[in-house]
Amino acid sequence: MEEKDFAAHLTATMTGSALTMLIGVGHRTGLFEAAARGPATSAGLAERAGLHERYVREWLGAMVTGGIFTHDAGEYAFPPEHAKFLLGETASNLMPSLLTLSAFTGILPELERAFAEGGGVPREAYGPYLETLGAKTGDSWKHIYREHLVDGFFGAVPGLNERLTAGVRVLDLGCGTGNAVAVAARAFPASRFTGLDINPGVVEQARELARDLPNAEFAVGDAAELAADPPYDVITAFDAVHDQDRPDVVLRRVREALAGDGLFFMVDTNFSSDVAKNVGNPLAALCYSISLMYCTTTSLAEGGAALGAMWGTEKAREMLADAGFRHVEVLESPRPQNCVYACRP
Ligand SMILES: C[S@@+](CC[C@H](N)C(=O)[O-])C[C@H]1O[C@@H](n2cnc3c(N)ncnc32)[C@H](O)[C@@H]1O
Repeated sequence: MEEKDFAAHLTATMTGSALTMLIGVGHRTGLFEAAARGPATSAGLAERAGLHERYVREWLGAMVTGGIFTHDAGEYAFPPEHAKFLLGETASNLMPSLLTLSAFTGILPELERAFAEGGGVPREAYGPYLETLGAKTGDSWKHIYREHLVDGFFGAVPGLNERLTAGVRVLDLGCGTGNAVAVAARAFPASRFTGLDINPGVVEQARELARDLPNAEFAVGDAAELAADPPYDVITAFDAVHDQDRPDVVLRRVREALAGDGLFFMVDTNFSSDVAKNVGNPLAALCYSISLMYCTTTSLAEGGAALGAMWGTEKAREMLADAGFRHVEVLESPRPQNCVYACRP
């Protein structure tokens, strides 16, 4: 990259960070919802949102010049084709991810201390930030599962939807707030689903979410202590392996808890273990950053393996083979940042 291009690249990076912060402000003050009701002057929008015009006008300036709003004849507009990425109950809405990024700013001093002194930032140190993070990541995945779980994710593995329709025993490891289990249990009433998570708080939310589903149940437990009996026909793990403190132990337990013709269905990040191969991937820098600010440091705080979100398909294949999976296919998922591992003994 030439010098002047690099300077422009850094300026664009700064602009992206600043806009991310102001997008959070717009979310929390209700400005996006107010703007989605139609074009308005700054005074009109301020009145609609119950805010002070001077602040709203400056915020609108950033939104317009940042390419999020348009401006014409004194009125500011939030085009519907942009609004669908910042509002609404769909998988396209990127707001939860944007909010997650700003939630990391609170732990940066501790992260910097860990750079110098070692160790990590424990999950508790995120305080209210962690709760925001959990709720928001759960939020984004809720819509993703609703729109893509059955046809997109399960559909990537030939024959899986047929087995689930016929009726099998399924365990979802690291089930979080139970969004995947709820969608799957509804779609496949003949199958029985158990969600397992180490965090009692999320399991409580999962139970509430699936309270009307007779074929879904949840348990609090450590995947590293998963019992081999009774065996499961399918074990799923959505974004729940790379953050494990003892991922090698968990993968071995999963292998032992699977029936002979069972399938371990793992959704994880879709990158290479080799940084050189990730150059040019437009999602890689973002994912390394999230990995550093959350996955790696929270694992190091527990003395864990700190695989990080960028462990990559090569490392994942190696660990799956070590755990006893002799047949592993890496398949495309509906999201470019994720892939599906179909693993068989
Ligand atoms: C990134 S979240 C993914 C949650 C869920 N699968 C989803 O897609 O929304 C990872 C989950 O793994 C859980 N987890 C971490 N270590 C675990 C362990 N050893 N045993 C069980 N669950 C664990 C965490 O509590 C968290 O809910």
